[in-house]
Amino acid sequence: MQGSDMARLGEGLTWNEFKQLPMSEKVAFFNHEGRPYHTIFPQQFNRAMLDDLCGLATSIRRIAKSRSGVDFLHSLLSHKRAMLYFTQPSSRTFLSFYAACQYLGLKPAEVRDAATSSELKGESGEDTLRTFSSYFDLIIMRSPKQGFAERIAHLLSSTERPIPIINAGSGKDQHPTQALLDIYTLQRSFERTGGIDGRKIMFVGDLLRGRTVRSLSCLLTNYRDVEQFFVTDPRLQMAPEALALLDQAKVKYRLESDFEKFIPKVDAIYMTRIQDEWDQAGEKPVDVSRYSFKPKHLSMLAPKAILMHPLPRRQEIAAECDKDPRAMYWRQARNGMWIRVALIAATFNIDDQIREYYRCNQA
Ligand code: NCD
Repeated sequence: MQGSDMARLGEGLTWNEFKQLPMSEKVAFFNHEGRPYHTIFPQQFNRAMLDDLCGLATSIRRIAKSRSGVDFLHSLLSHKRAMLYFTQPSSRTFLSFYAACQYLGLKPAEVRDAATSSELKGESGEDTLRTFSSYFDLIIMRSPKQGFAERIAHLLSSTERPIPIINAGSGKDQHPTQALLDIYTLQRSFERTGGIDGRKIMFVGDLLRGRTVRSLSCLLTNYRDVEQFFVTDPRLQMAPEALALLDQAKVKYRLESDFEKFIPKVDAIYMTRIQDEWDQAGEKPVDVSRYSFKPKHLSMLAPKAILMHPLPRRQEIAAECDKDPRAMYWRQARNGMWIRVALIAATFNIDDQIREYYRCNQA
C-alpha cells in the first residue's frame, strides 16, 4: 500500500482504533512521502532519513556562519508561526526549538504552564491543542502524559486545519528529537573514524524511566553491528518493551551493573539522571552513587571515545570532566539546535531549497 493511501486509512479511524495499529502503519500515517510530517516516535526514522537530516543540519550550520546565509534561512518560513506548548520543565529542548524556529524565520509563541491556559477552567488538553491549530502552523509539545503527542497528531489530522506536531518529550516513553541530536553528535564525533556502525554504546543511570535512552536505543537499531550496553542498578534496568524492540531488530545488547568494568571497552558512554519526578509516594530511592563519571574515570576511557549526557545533570558527571575533549554534552546541546532546524525544514518541505543554496554558495 502507498504511504498516502495508508494515511487516508488512518484518518478514518477513531483514536481507540488508531492507537492499536502496528507501528509500521502509524509510521506511514505520521510520515508523508518519506519525510517526517508529525514527529512522534523514533521508529519514524530510517537510516536514509537519519543520514539526510544529519547532512542537512551540517549544511545549515555552515550556511548560518555568514550574515547572508542567516538572512536566507530567515526568509524560508517567515510566513509561518509555531506554538511551543511545554507543560513539563525544559531548558535545552525548549530554547533550542525556540532558536531553531528563529533561524527559519518561523515566529514562536509559548505556553509553558497549563495553569495559564483555559485548562485551568476545565478545558481538556485536546481542546486546548486544537485551539492552537487555529492560530499556528506547527505545534512543538512536551507533556507528562504518555502518548499525548500521538493523540493530538491523530486528532488534528481529522480537523479542518491539520498542522504538524513535534513531540518534544512525552511522559516516560519517548523523546525523539533528543535522540536525533544524540545521533548527530555521534555521527559528528565519529565521522573521521568510520561512523556509527560497529560502535559499542553504553547507557548508564535511570534506564527504566529515562525517555532519552529509550529513543536513542531505538534509533541506534538503524546502524550496523552497534552493540548496546545497559549498565545500572537492576531496579533501574531497561523496560522489557524497550528490550523487545532490540530483540526484534536482532541487535546485540548486554544488561550489566558494573560501571567501571565497561568504561574502557566502549566507544561512547551516555550518562543519565535519576528521573525521581516519577517516584511513587513512599518509594525508597535507589542508591546510584556508583553510577557517576568521576575525573579518575577519564584515564580509563579510550582516547577516541566520547562522554555524553542529555542534561540536566546532577552528580552523574563531575564538572571537572567538562574540559576533557571527549566530553560532548555541551556540544550535544548546540547540536540540538541544528538538528531541530533541519527537522523543521524537512517537516515544511524546504530542505531541498536549503541543499540547493548550500550547493550554489558553499560547496
Ligand atoms: C531530558 C528529558 O527531558 O527527558 N532532558 C532533555 O530534554 N535534554 C533528560 C532529563 O530530564 O533527565
